[in-house]
Amino acid sequence: MTDLPGVLQLTPMNPEFNEDPHKLLDRLRNECPVRRDDMAGLFLLTRHGDVRGVLSDTSMWRSPERAEEAAVVTRAILGSRPEGLKVDEDEERSGILLMDEPDHMRIREPFAKALYKRVAKSKPKVTQVVREWLDGIGDAKTFDVMDKFALRVPVDVIARLLGVDNARLPEFREWSEGSILGLNPFRTPEQTEFYVKSRNALSAYMRELMNARRKQPEDDITSDMVILQAEGAQLTDGEISTNLQGLLIGGNLTTTDLIGNAIWLFLKNPDQLAKLKADPSLINGAVEEVLRYESPVDITGRIAPRDMEVGGCPMKQSQSMFLSLRGANRDPEAFPDPHKFDIARKDAPHVAFGGGLHLCIGSPLARLEAQVALLAFFERYPNVRLADPGMKPKWRTLPFFRGLEELVVAV
Ligand code: HEM
Repeated sequence: MTDLPGVLQLTPMNPEFNEDPHKLLDRLRNECPVRRDDMAGLFLLTRHGDVRGVLSDTSMWRSPERAEEAAVVTRAILGSRPEGLKVDEDEERSGILLMDEPDHMRIREPFAKALYKRVAKSKPKVTQVVREWLDGIGDAKTFDVMDKFALRVPVDVIARLLGVDNARLPEFREWSEGSILGLNPFRTPEQTEFYVKSRNALSAYMRELMNARRKQPEDDITSDMVILQAEGAQLTDGEISTNLQGLLIGGNLTTTDLIGNAIWLFLKNPDQLAKLKADPSLINGAVEEVLRYESPVDITGRIAPRDMEVGGCPMKQSQSMFLSLRGANRDPEAFPDPHKFDIARKDAPHVAFGGGLHLCIGSPLARLEAQVALLAFFERYPNVRLADPGMKPKWRTLPFFRGLEELVVAV
């Protein structure tokens, strides 16, 4: 059991994991489903039942500050602010992803209320963005789907929901590209510089947009949030600004990867693509199966709020858990024939969006974007295929995310 992988081997920096994460995850689930990784200071959970149980336990903690000192990987996030990054006092630790109650729900509820309402009526906007990028591909006979399509759609959709002025869209796209580098702990000094510049510009622009919408509300979520604040929602400007940016940072690369992973999977599984084309009403289940089979996010975390037992394993208060969403999504106990990509799968309660109090707030938007993007892409390119039929996928090496570096197709 001693040679079982720890969390550092479960990142794409490990070529074996990068090529096929499931060899290692299956081994862990079979041999030690709640594994203590002493070096990282955490427990690694890979069974679907355990992961779901922890996610839905609303007493669990999330904030890394509450983790024990030994939880070095979990706590690393606390000391990792690069030089030059401007964070106002009221923005400090104000993102809901790593926050606990009661503040988490105080902020999340008005955001969720505004976002869900917007998403419910945003299909025409999403369709328009998808169409514009497909039109932009023009007559090209081969192209990289990531660069020309999957990377482009989510940032433009979020920009429109936030209300970014058209004239600022090119800058916004650049800030978005730079902000994503914040997710990469292995960035070069040049990338850090680009990251800091982008985040500072994005924060300043968000404040500018909020002030403009206070004077003159428009049809966007930035207006919704400042109006909710004026009507009495207990939110500071810093909390609004940080969490509006969180919609971009949390939703951008993840949705890009959902679209990219989906196109890759359909090209590798022509029988499943034929099924979808024959009956486009299967699209909802198809997107759920992509989320299960090739989840864009590897893990999420929780912290034990008291001494307790998880999956038969004793845990002390403040010990940290990494929940392998990818491992849980291929657990044979939850999904018959888990390594088969099957868009007609029934009762497949995947955990790609986490769960419980922190369930991904952007899941309805990610689903909508993927559904619209996939149907439109395969309709536009009925004969699309891999440019090189023997192509080996190049997975990005960003820890805890899984998506393609490039995906070159012929049409
Ligand atoms: C396929 C696309 C996406 C995936 C796989 C994904 C995955 C996740 C996961 C795993 C979590 C953590 C949940 C937990 O700990 O229980 C999360 C949280 C979050 N996501 Fe997403 N996400 C996606 C798209 C989006 C989009 C489009 C947005 C914004 C519009 C977004 C915004 C957020 C936010 C703000 C949180 C924090 C929620 C909280 O802690 O209360 N995500 N997401």
